Amino acid sequence: MAPLPQEKLLYENDDLELVDSFSKKGYRTKPILYVNGEKVPEDLAAKARSNQTLLSFLRDVMKLRGSKLGCSEGGCGACSVMISKKDPKSNQVKHLAVNACLMPALAADGCHVTTVEGIGTVKGGLHPVQKAMTDLHGSQCGFCTPGIIVAIYSLFASNPSAKYIEEHLDGNLCRCTGYRPIWDAARSLCDDAEDLVKGPCGTACRECPERHDCEQDCNVEDKKAAEEKSVCSSSVDKLPLKKEFEEGKSNWVDQPNDMFPKDLMDENSVTSIALSKPLMIVDQVEYQGSGTWFKPTTLEQLLSLLKEFGEDGQGGYKLVVGNTEVGIETRFKHSIYPRLISPAETVESIFDFTVTPETVMIGGCTPLSHVQHEAEAAAKDPKYTRTTMPMHDMLRWFASTQIRNVACLGGNLVTASPISDMNPLLASFGASLVLSKLSGSGVSRRKVPVPEFFLSYRKVNIEPGEIVESVEVPVLNKYFDYVKPFKQARRREDDISIVTSGMHIRVVPKDGAFVIEHASLAFGGMAPTTVLAKETAKALVGSEFSRSTFDKAQEVLMKEFNLPEGVPGGQAAYRITLAASFLQKMYFAVAVDLKADAEAIAADATDAAKFPSPLPTVVALDEEEISGLDSFLSAPKPTLVGVQKYPAPKVADGLEKEILPAASVAGKDSASAVGKPSVHQSGSLHCTGEALYCDDIPEPAGTLHGALILSTACGCVFEKLDKEAALAIPGVVGLFTAEDIDVLGGKNLWGPIAKDEHIFHPAGEKIRTVGQVLGVVVGESLECAEMGARAAKVSYGPVEDKIIMTIEEAISAGSYFESTRHSLTRGDVSVIDGLKDAKDFEGTPKVGDIVKISGSYSTGAQEHFYLETNSTLAVPSESDTNLTIYASTQAATKTQTYCASSTGTPASKVVCKVKRLGGGFGGKETRSVFISCAAAVAAKRTGRAVRLTLPRNQDMLISGHRHAFVSKYSASAEITEEGPKLLAMDIHLYNNGGYSLDLSGPVSDRAVFHSDNVYFFPNFRVEGVACKTHQASHTAYRGFGGPQGMAPAEHVMEHLAQVCNLDVGLVRRLNMYKEGQATHFGQILGEKQSGKWNVPRMWDKLWAELDVEKRQNEIAEFNKKNKYLKRGAALIPTKFGVAFTAKYMNQGGALVHLYTDGTVLVSHGGTEMGQGLHTKVCQVAAQAFGIPIEMVYVNETATDKVANTIPTAASMSTDLYGMCTLDACRQIVKRLEPYREKLGPEASLASIASAAHMNRVDMSAHGFFAPDDSRVGFDFTVEKPADYPADKPENSWKGNPFNYFTQGVAYTEVEVDFLTGNHRTLISEVLVDVGSSVNPAIDIGQIEGAFTQGMGWSTIEEVVYADEDHKWVRPYGTMFTTGPGTYKIPAFNDQPEIFNVSLMEDVDNPFAVHSSKAVGEPPFYLGASVFYAIKDAVRRARATPGYFEFRLPATSERIRMSVNDEISMKAKKQVIGDERDAAEYQVQGSF
Ligand SMILES: Cc1cc2nc3c(=O)[nH]c(=O)nc-3n(C[C@H](O)[C@H](O)[C@H](O)COP(=O)(O)OP(=O)(O)OC[C@H]3O[C@@H](n4cnc5c(N)ncnc54)[C@H](O)[C@@H]3O)c2cc1C
Ligand code: FES
Ligand code: FES
Repeated sequence: MAPLPQEKLLYENDDLELVDSFSKKGYRTKPILYVNGEKVPEDLAAKARSNQTLLSFLRDVMKLRGSKLGCSEGGCGACSVMISKKDPKSNQVKHLAVNACLMPALAADGCHVTTVEGIGTVKGGLHPVQKAMTDLHGSQCGFCTPGIIVAIYSLFASNPSAKYIEEHLDGNLCRCTGYRPIWDAARSLCDDAEDLVKGPCGTACRECPERHDCEQDCNVEDKKAAEEKSVCSSSVDKLPLKKEFEEGKSNWVDQPNDMFPKDLMDENSVTSIALSKPLMIVDQVEYQGSGTWFKPTTLEQLLSLLKEFGEDGQGGYKLVVGNTEVGIETRFKHSIYPRLISPAETVESIFDFTVTPETVMIGGCTPLSHVQHEAEAAAKDPKYTRTTMPMHDMLRWFASTQIRNVACLGGNLVTASPISDMNPLLASFGASLVLSKLSGSGVSRRKVPVPEFFLSYRKVNIEPGEIVESVEVPVLNKYFDYVKPFKQARRREDDISIVTSGMHIRVVPKDGAFVIEHASLAFGGMAPTTVLAKETAKALVGSEFSRSTFDKAQEVLMKEFNLPEGVPGGQAAYRITLAASFLQKMYFAVAVDLKADAEAIAADATDAAKFPSPLPTVVALDEEEISGLDSFLSAPKPTLVGVQKYPAPKVADGLEKEILPAASVAGKDSASAVGKPSVHQSGSLHCTGEALYCDDIPEPAGTLHGALILSTACGCVFEKLDKEAALAIPGVVGLFTAEDIDVLGGKNLWGPIAKDEHIFHPAGEKIRTVGQVLGVVVGESLECAEMGARAAKVSYGPVEDKIIMTIEEAISAGSYFESTRHSLTRGDVSVIDGLKDAKDFEGTPKVGDIVKISGSYSTGAQEHFYLETNSTLAVPSESDTNLTIYASTQAATKTQTYCASSTGTPASKVVCKVKRLGGGFGGKETRSVFISCAAAVAAKRTGRAVRLTLPRNQDMLISGHRHAFVSKYSASAEITEEGPKLLAMDIHLYNNGGYSLDLSGPVSDRAVFHSDNVYFFPNFRVEGVACKTHQASHTAYRGFGGPQGMAPAEHVMEHLAQVCNLDVGLVRRLNMYKEGQATHFGQILGEKQSGKWNVPRMWDKLWAELDVEKRQNEIAEFNKKNKYLKRGAALIPTKFGVAFTAKYMNQGGALVHLYTDGTVLVSHGGTEMGQGLHTKVCQVAAQAFGIPIEMVYVNETATDKVANTIPTAASMSTDLYGMCTLDACRQIVKRLEPYREKLGPEASLASIASAAHMNRVDMSAHGFFAPDDSRVGFDFTVEKPADYPADKPENSWKGNPFNYFTQGVAYTEVEVDFLTGNHRTLISEVLVDVGSSVNPAIDIGQIEGAFTQGMGWSTIEEVVYADEDHKWVRPYGTMFTTGPGTYKIPAFNDQPEIFNVSLMEDVDNPFAVHSSKAVGEPPFYLGASVFYAIKDAVRRARATPGYFEFRLPATSERIRMSVNDEISMKAKKQVIGDERDAAEYQVQGSF
């Protein structure tokens, strides 16, 4: 059924007329829903609509705001809830996690829904899962947490074992934590937790007499703790905590069953009897898309509905099962289906899984997770192993557990996606579909072989009224019959394939050889439909099973799939390479299985008698070829663990000792709060879903919902916006544009540095990017507002400008933000200038040679992917003269300022309040502001509150990314006895700033400052500039250009090492700064100016402790033994300058109140976005008053409490807000000192406070902190003074950009499957100097999270725009990667398998509060150690030795195509022709 165009949307549903007749047929007309152990009252249940998701029902109707909306497309898991239902066959209750953002509300009819609120609450008591997650620091921003809690809870309900959890925790994303603490929390409650405490030797580590000498990575290393100098906590160590978490909750495992409503269990209850009837719901709710929902309970009912509504003129229907495809169409293609038919599980034949000796029969609607588990169970019988195990293995990696719990095989087949995973596998088996429909005489059935079902792109051989009743898969022969699945995606877990395949080979022993009797090779991703490689199969059939046969077949295959360069989906050469590599893997897999079969036959006389004797000789694989077999599809998922080590907690004095007066009210009971690993202040609220985010704040009565109108073109004039159609949509209240800002007397222009952006782009002006905001529609419901926004007609003039998308295009066109161009020079300019004319070095360098290198290097963009999208609630009051803005922003004051200026309101009448953010990472430092302004303008114009929460796809389209960079460099080094010593570098850094300036200048500056990383270049020139392009305006992102500056420096180190044929570790170590040397911006690395220079000793420490040399030998050994798997390693250093480079931003204020009960309320200018700022500030305040942290509270950030704040960014927040809070606290403490003296050491703070209050002492104070002028601020434009002393560092007259440096090193080892490009991160060992930590648990969490984001940036994350490289994406200039389906951040399975983090000891920092150091951004770059380790592995695998330009990110495509083996070279030549050099080929990235 084709969806209705939206203007045909019926608000009066014609199906109302059918209700009577269906009631007579026995249909119910009211849904029966249960949520959190209670039946949903009828009046509320009646509000469930057919086109409504379960999430919308729970959040909007039930007001249960614990489940979050992260993406609307099943890709993040934030919306996870548990569905419990009675299995009609077994009568057992099944508990399944599902994505409430896709599941229709009415599909929950007859089910029990458990949301996070139903699991446990702060008031009612935490469930052990929640407790474990809180105590083990598993939440940071907490937005993903409710979904993860539900997912773990559901898995426990089915099987509380670690292996089960490891296997199935694949449907949730977390952007903050790096997953390790979540893994620890989940495993700590497993039944087999105690077993897991055993090392691989089988002994429990805790009881092992040799544990102090044991060198196993898993060993509980708390032996070090015994020295009392450090604390060591490992994943293994946390397992025995089970009892602690379970305390008082003995029956927690039974909770899901106990909560399951008795009514649903008892088949004779009124409810169960009602539920046995079919259901029809006619939706008539105002201002919503209406439709009708049918739930037939028998096959006859189902087929007769399809027949009735499938007939011409009957309006049609849409069959819906898991809704994982239909839901996406509804959401993103705005399809409206007025009739949805969703069969009940009582329709047996379509929900079946049966195995007979000949056939595996799978019901067309059977959930894939059921198929997966049944396939695994069937495989236990050797008769079926080779048939059902490939299905199981493919399904393990199909979508996520939440999707598989609802999605069905029929849905996969009928959707006919060319990259479906199951369709090629079924095709290769020779499976058939059984299609059924109601015809005159009853049910008629026909069989269609799977390959014949696919007619053309997304078109299948199914008739109106037909369903896929079942799929029949023939059982394979006991011997010599093989099917194998293959899949490669951008990410292993929950990702759609790039290429997927099922291959079936059957051989027979004939004439002394094994001859291929049957070959069926099916592929997804190689054509518009699932296809069989028929020519290749022909080349195989009849030939001997041998390597040469497969080599020939591989050539045929590459010709058969001759994809052109601009093929939809791109990656033509990679896809051809993958297909050919899968065939090679098939050869290895069959060779091994064939050998096993031959041996089994030889051992079984009965079977042996059925075959010629002796059997032909089986081809033998070389030992190193066995690695070609490797496939993550069948390998067990690894147990991901980590050890965290930190110096024993202490309260250290820092900058406060210098600048604040000493004051103390410490008494006998005073406690130390600083230095402790306290849990996140909101941890338990995160875990129960009770933490309120902006979109959860209860809306005032009459609140309107907003939807933005975005431009769909650029480079043309925005001519006109016709409001008529939008305003005609029922429920739409208004549409506001630039003109409305004029009406309010407001200002439309805004920008964080230059005011070069409009809040609403005015008509008549040139549109500068796809996604520019043209207006906002507000309506009574979100649905009608969105409909209005789509209905508004926008007229564009012809495209007049050349659309510039990439940096190279901008360079060619000279398109720059000139004001951002900054450069620094040091040393001998003639040496630097000389680089230009010198030739690149060739040959073997010897001592005394000058080696010159040059090249260009690119790093990609990165989407912030904070789990909470931008959200604002704008509330007008006092006859609309005042505005309160609740926003998810890092910039409360900027939000206040621009909401005031755009609405013509004085700033004093606008308050911006920020409770917490669901992640920011820089993405909400500026780009949230214009979104809040749009809501504010609409609120002011309508006089009603307006809620505007961006859908994920819009958020990703308009809010900008980490800047992509291109660097062009020349560098030289002199070869000395020790190795190459850097001589000079000349480097130009270009960033892709997008269409407006935003923060692109400071980002470029920070890249300029970090372009030395940790290396001393005696002669150095660096210039940075931002390029003006037609992309979205790019912005701050963790690291703020620092990582993009360091990456080319590291690339130069690698380039030099490759040219010199030396170990890059040696080149790195040799060229590191020494204590006392100055950076190229004139800051001395030494105790007085920037604190101790620790990187070299940290490097040496890790090098020695890990015995890197030994490891390198082991890697070399492994690589020798494995032809197709290669390991690589890298040790990477970093230094990160701490301070805002804009001097004025280095300031912060706090307001502290002490109450007479001895509790303290702190308000400060920073926002809490998961980084634990409020927790650390509470620790500082608690320390100042000598009270436990529980007695201090930070409620929210509000501009009426602390004014003129700067955005929470630059990792500076603890430095600023810790210090200003301490300032305020000490002022109060000073006033209390006489009372402590008077009342004595026994007196509590409460009694001291009461006494002071009675004596009229002010117990509130405002604190302020701004680092000394000499420690912050750098001005590129200041000329060198004539009398500048020669002995002072060059460039230091311009100022000091940084207060100090946070430093770190990381070692990573990876394993790469070079036939596919898949990689595993085996170990990452991270050592960071964060000074004396205020909270080591939070700091370690920040390090792990930053590392993981850095790993994502440098490996799997890739932003794709519609540009010259991606001609298949249109319209030109738009973004392709606008959701988790296309943009992949690291998932649970991507964590390094061993992920160890240590905080460096003896590294106090006199320049910050309590001697601590900033931690949020600095470790980000260390995640790139994964990239360098991959590069090392690729280097070892490459057929062509020497230097190669391995750009960042190291996607599977880049890895595979950089190996330059025979297959990839052939594929590249085939696609690009011979005129371009395939060896230099760069895969198409985002930059
Ligand atoms: C986050 C996410 C990840 C995904 N990952 C993967 C992946 O890794 N690999 C992959 O291959 N796919 C993937 N998919 C696609 C999707 O999950 C599958 O196509 C799924 O099998 C669809 O089943 P469903 O029950 O949800 O279909 P629905 O959305 O309910 O229906 C889809 C279509 O099939 C029709 N239909 C359903 N059942 C029948 C039947 N028995 N007879 C006739 N018509 C029927 C419906 O009418 C509709 O036209 C993913 C989807 C999402 C949202
Ligand atoms: S909101 Fe449902 S999976 Fe993202
Ligand atoms: S804590 Fe997981 S996304 Fe923030």
